Amino acid sequence: MKLLPMLGLTHGNRSAVTCALKCNNACAHPVPNQSTEPSFREIASAQLSRRRLLAAAGTLAAGVAAGSGALPLEPAAAKPKGGAKSTDTVGSGALEFEPIDPVPFETDAVTVPAGYTWNPILRWGDPLFHNSPDFDPSHPNAEAQELQFGYNNDYTDIIVTDRAGREGLLVCNHEYTNRDIMFEPTASDAEELEVIRTMIAAHGFSIVELERKAKRRNWKYVRGAELNRRITGNTEFVFDGPAAGVALLQTAADPEGMFPHGTLGNCSGGTTPWGTILSGEENFNGYFKADPNAVGSARYGLSDADTSYAFEKVDPRFDATTADYANEPHRFGWVVEIDPSDPTSTPKKHTALGRFKHEAANVRVDDEGNVAVYMGDDERFDYLYKFVAKRKYVEGARKHNLKLLSEGDLYVAKFTGEQRPDNANLGTGEWIALTENGESVVPGMSTEEVLVFTRLAADKLGATPMDRPEDVEPNPITGKVYVACTNNTDRGVKAGKPGPDAANPRKANKDGHIVELTEHKNQADATTFSWDLFLVCGDPDDAGTYFGGYDGPVAPISCPDNVAFDSKGNLWISTDGAPSALKLADGLFRVPLTGDERGKVAQFLAVPNQAETCGPVIHDADGSVFVAVQHPGEDGSWDDQQSYFPDYVAAGSRPSRGEWRGPRPAIVQVTKKRN
Ligand code: FEO
Ligand code: CA
Ligand code: CA
Repeated sequence: MKLLPMLGLTHGNRSAVTCALKCNNACAHPVPNQSTEPSFREIASAQLSRRRLLAAAGTLAAGVAAGSGALPLEPAAAKPKGGAKSTDTVGSGALEFEPIDPVPFETDAVTVPAGYTWNPILRWGDPLFHNSPDFDPSHPNAEAQELQFGYNNDYTDIIVTDRAGREGLLVCNHEYTNRDIMFEPTASDAEELEVIRTMIAAHGFSIVELERKAKRRNWKYVRGAELNRRITGNTEFVFDGPAAGVALLQTAADPEGMFPHGTLGNCSGGTTPWGTILSGEENFNGYFKADPNAVGSARYGLSDADTSYAFEKVDPRFDATTADYANEPHRFGWVVEIDPSDPTSTPKKHTALGRFKHEAANVRVDDEGNVAVYMGDDERFDYLYKFVAKRKYVEGARKHNLKLLSEGDLYVAKFTGEQRPDNANLGTGEWIALTENGESVVPGMSTEEVLVFTRLAADKLGATPMDRPEDVEPNPITGKVYVACTNNTDRGVKAGKPGPDAANPRKANKDGHIVELTEHKNQADATTFSWDLFLVCGDPDDAGTYFGGYDGPVAPISCPDNVAFDSKGNLWISTDGAPSALKLADGLFRVPLTGDERGKVAQFLAVPNQAETCGPVIHDADGSVFVAVQHPGEDGSWDDQQSYFPDYVAAGSRPSRGEWRGPRPAIVQVTKKRN
C-alpha cells in the first residue's frame, strides 16, 4: 500500500511523511487563499458520578487559581484577570532549571535539564478500560483500538481534581495516524480494511483518570477508572449554534444535519474556565474525496484524489463526490467541545465559531465577564479570528456557561502598522465582524454560508493574511494575547501572494514569529487592538531575528506552534519544524514577557527523532512540565523504524513476547529527580 506519493517533494519545514499525512501536502498544492486582497501594508501604509474538589492553583489550564466548589470541573476563580496588575511576572516561575543546549536533529532521545527526569504517562495503545486488550500492533484491530489510547497526541491538559493533589484527569486529542510505522504491510484486502478501521479508531480524544502518591510525584494512569473515555472518528457529536441542522450540513445518513460522526485532525485546543475541553479540527480536507468544483473545495484544499488514509474504502461518507455525502466535509473543520466530567455527554461541534482549519481555541474572560475565544486558521496566508459570546461568563453557573459558545459573533483580524528595520514593529488592528447579533454582515452571504464557508467570507472583508497562525492564547495574568505564526516559506516568494508586512515581517519566513496583541482597554469584546512583534524566531545570529528587545544570549528557536503559560505568566513555546529550519530537534522553550529578561528564550527540553513537541502543560508550582510527543520516527517504516521512543527497545535487541520495536507517541511528565 503506497501512502506517500509526495515523498521527497516537500518544500516546507516538515518531513515528507508529515506533509502527506498531517496536512495532505498543503505546501505542494496551490495556496488555498487566492484572494487578491492586498496586504494591509499595501492598503494602509501600504453530571457527575463522583464528587471531588478542584485542587489549587495551576491545575486547570495555565494560571487557574484555587477552586472551592465540588465538581463539575469548574474552578471558582478560573476567570483570568484581564487588566490585573502583575507584581511578579519576571523570572523563572516556580521551576528553576539550567537551560539545555540545542540538540542536533536525528537525536532519538528526550533531553531534559540536569537534575530532571522524564516519564511516559500514556503511550499509543495503552489499555484504558478493564476490558481493553493489551497493545498488540501485530494484530491491528479496530475494536481493541477503541478501548486503547489513540495515536499522535497533540492538545493535552492535566487537570488536578482533588485538594490533596493525588487525583487528576488527563485529556488529549489524537490528531492523525501513520499507517506505515504503526502496522506491518498486510497480505489481503480484508486485513488492510481492518487496518483502516483501526486508524479511524486511533483518532479523536482520550480522557483518562490519573493518580499519584503525593504532590510533585509522577502521575500514573488508572485503567478502568470511571471517567475514562475514548472518542474516535466514529463517535456521535451534535452540532450546536446557528448553522446546526442547515442544508449544508445534511447528508443521506443524517438528513437532520445535526449529528456528525467523529472528529478528525484535532490539533491544539484549550481548556475553558468552565472545565470543558476545546479542540480544533484542522487538516480535515485530507480525509475526504470531494468534487473539486464544489463551493469551497479549492479554498479548503479538497480534491477528488484518493486519500492517503483511504477511509473511503470502509465508510462511504468519506467519498463526498457522491450526492449522498456531498456535504460530509462540511461536517468537519469546527471547534469541538467535550465535557470530561461526564463520560455520557455528547460532544459538540460549535458552528458559531466558524469553519476553517482550526488549530486551537483558547478562551479569555475579562474583568466584566465578557468571553472571547481566540482562534488561528493554520494555512499559509490565512487569518486570525475571534469569537465573542453573546452572554457573559457567570462564575459557578455551569449550566449557563456550557452554552456560552452557542451564540455570539465572529470576527477576523486586520492588522495595520509600519515595518521597522529591527522588526520591533508596533501597530494597531481591527476585529472585522463577520456576524452581528449572530447574523451575517458579509455582502452576498447568508449566516449559514458565513459559518460553513468562513474562509470565503473573511476573504471579502480585507482580513490580513498571516504566516500560518497556530496556537493563539491569552496570558491569564495580563490578558495580552500571543499569536504563534509558525512559518510561511511562500511569503514574498509565490507570485501573486503578499510580501512581507509589519505583522508578518519576513520574506520566505522559515522560522516563524510571535505577535503580542493587546485588546483596547484590555476588554475581551473589544473591536480594536494594538500589537507588537514579540519574537521573530530563528538562529539569533541571523539578521532579522528579534527577541523582544533582549540583548543577551538566547536559545535558537524555530517554528513556534503550541504555547502555554506558567504561574508567573512566562510564555512557554513548543516547536514543530526546527529539524528542517535549523537542523535542530524540536523542543520546549520558556521566555519571560516582561521586565529586564523579556525575550530571553531558554530551552527546557528537546523531543526525540522526527517528533514534534505538543501540549505543553506547565505545572511549575507542582514541579512538573508535561509534553505530548507527537509523530516520533515519522519517516520510518515497519521494517525501518527511526525512533524507539519511549521504551527504546531497539532493533537487534531481544524483544520479549509481544514487545513493540518502534515509536509510540506518548504523554511525558518531566520532574525534578528525587534525591
Ligand atoms: Fe496540527 Fe497547525 O498544527
Ligand atoms: Ca499545531
Ligand atoms: Ca496552548
